[in-house]
Amino acid sequence: MIEVKNLHKSFGDAHILKGINTAFEKGKTNLIIGQSGSGKTVFLKCLLGLFNYEQGSIAYDGKIFSKLSEDEKRDIRAQIGMVFQGSALFDSMTIEENVMFPLKMFTKQSKSEMQDRVDFVLKRVNLADAHKKMPSEASGGMQKRVAIARAIVNKPKYLFCDEPNSGLDPKTSIVIDDLIKEITEEYQITTVINSHDMNSVMQIGEKIVFLKNGYKEWEGSRYDIFKTDNKAVTDFVYSSELFKKVRQMYLEERG
Ligand SMILES: Nc1ncnc2c1ncn2[C@@H]1O[C@H](COP(=O)(O)OP(=O)(O)OP(=O)(O)O)[C@@H](O)[C@H]1O
Ligand SMILES: [Mg+2]
Repeated sequence: MIEVKNLHKSFGDAHILKGINTAFEKGKTNLIIGQSGSGKTVFLKCLLGLFNYEQGSIAYDGKIFSKLSEDEKRDIRAQIGMVFQGSALFDSMTIEENVMFPLKMFTKQSKSEMQDRVDFVLKRVNLADAHKKMPSEASGGMQKRVAIARAIVNKPKYLFCDEPNSGLDPKTSIVIDDLIKEITEEYQITTVINSHDMNSVMQIGEKIVFLKNGYKEWEGSRYDIFKTDNKAVTDFVYSSELFKKVRQMYLEERG
């Protein structure tokens, strides 16, 4: 569980996050949505512990990050897995080496323990035969799966994904979304995903936080999104004709 209270973040005069309050439960796929520039990536980087913020607090299972010692902060960071926008694999390493990297960084496991764990997670993301390939030899969808394998290799309690299916076709996007949701449930991870993909919202949005101009404009589930009359949300969601139709059908079905 992650609890965010009154989070403010500025860069110089630019006030980007303007007092965000929300909470993310474990075992759930939590989505942050909002227009380009609304502050999603900045928010995720605050959760990652990469940014200092002027006001507010972030608590990881009750531990308020800013009040921790450097060692305790390091412990929290070691429990975070991250899938960056655009995969961000190391080009000069094989897929296997990419996935092993966090284990070398954060653990003192033996070579064979690390190898077993890498084999396990690569199998989990359906890449059992890709160990020796270079990232450049993998498709976009495979690269995302490698990035997910790397993010979960050290058994994180927290998983953050920034636009995990950007650049993927709709079918592969669903595979990636479902994989993240399954892993989240299976290992009871607190997962937060940035997205502006409405398909993801409908597919895996158990909790959705809608950011607008650095404020939390709305939050709710994917079912609530059909019922809300918050104009900012409906303008965002129903900018697509397809989703207008889906909403209409949903509401008719429920009377
Ligand atoms: N390191 C930085 N220094 C200064 N300004 C920044 C920095 N990072 C982000 N910003 C500003 O913060 C605002 C929010 O950016 P952010 O990247 O969080 O948007 P986003 O919602 O993730 O957009 P997108 O959907 O395009 O990824 C933007 O105005 C951006 O210019
Ligand atoms: Mg972003």
